[in-house]
Amino acid sequence: MARALPTFAPDAAPGAPVELFAAWLAEAVAVGVLDPGAALLSTAGADGRPDARIVALRDVEADEAGWVFASDAASPKGVQLAQQPAAALTFYWPLQGRQIRVRGDVTQAAREVSLAEFATRSPASKVAGLVGRQSTPLASLPDWDEAAEGARRQLANHPEAHPPGHTVYTLAAHEVEFWQGDPGRRHVRLRYTRNSPAGGGAWERTLLWP
Ligand SMILES: Cc1cc2nc3c(=O)[nH]c(=O)nc-3n(C[C@H](O)[C@H](O)[C@H](O)COP(=O)(O)O)c2cc1C
Repeated sequence: MARALPTFAPDAAPGAPVELFAAWLAEAVAVGVLDPGAALLSTAGADGRPDARIVALRDVEADEAGWVFASDAASPKGVQLAQQPAAALTFYWPLQGRQIRVRGDVTQAAREVSLAEFATRSPASKVAGLVGRQSTPLASLPDWDEAAEGARRQLANHPEAHPPGHTVYTLAAHEVEFWQGDPGRRHVRLRYTRNSPAGGGAWERTLLWP
């Protein structure tokens, strides 16, 4: 039996993609999509070769149409973003047959914003951040345990401790596409585009062939 999926009426879609994203995200949470804020972040550095990994969505800014995530500036993705500050974020919520693609330019938040975001984190997340060295070779798992123990001691003595490279990034969208799957393959795709992300250019909506 075909799966029941939500319907999507593009004619009734709001004028700005952040509004539709917020509505879809709320629906995803309501129906129990697992980890709906987990998104595939695609980047390419100076060598132009694509790379991708999951990050957690931290916020969505309506004014800027900004999708916010955080990472270590010294990590491969951080280096790639410094070399080429543009990226794509892709969300896939299989329970609803929905995909959202966001493309745009990436900026780093001011240092105090990144530190304030780090301060909101759980103890385990802070320890993981303080251990640092993301994506560098780890000789053995006990080495991580030892580094984590050191980070716990550091936090106990200095609760304000933070990793030097912890960075909040904002992807200011210039293109956002909403894809609603249909069991009969009459998928509905609506793309929002704007020419000028800085200063908030007007959004144009285009229906796409699936
Ligand atoms: C569900 C999930 C959420 C994640 N969230 C983040 C995140 O918010 N920031 C981050 O740096 N890495 C996050 N990661 C780990 C990344 O996928 C990745 O392993 C790590 O950042 C190293 O990526 P890089 O070598 O491309 O820099 C997450 C992984 C998963 C599976």
